[in-house]
Amino acid sequence: LVPSLLQAVLCAAVALALCVGGIGATPAARGAGCRKHVRRVTEYGAVGDGKTLNTAAFARAVADLGRYAGDRGAALVVPAGRWLTGPFNLTSHFTLFLHRGAEILASQ
Ligand SMILES: *[C@@H]1O[C@H](CO)[C@@H](O)[C@H](O)[C@H]1NC(C)=O
Repeated sequence: LVPSLLQAVLCAAVALALCVGGIGATPAARGAGCRKHVRRVTEYGAVGDGKTLNTAAFARAVADLGRYAGDRGAALVVPAGRWLTGPFNLTSHFTLFLHRGAEILASQ
């Protein structure tokens, strides 16, 4: 019991250090929580100009990052900008991280 308790405490401490300290992590990655895989929505072709419709880019990103549900999950970082989109579904073990200055605009 004692070794396994110690092991659990050590694991929690390491996880906390990784999440909070974020070895080499950018503020966006730290904000994205403890997700192992972090991508920007621009990598999927999204444009944050307030005019481009980004529904397909968000859907592609969520579908792609959903592959990592069993591997500590994924985060999609939305940088500062105005991101017009229609509806898209989220998935499990997934963080949608809006950077300071990021706005999601719902299309009509
Ligand atoms: C989201 O998922 C629900 C349930 O599967 C589905 O009915 C809906 O059409 C999906 N919406 C989009 C935008 O994919």
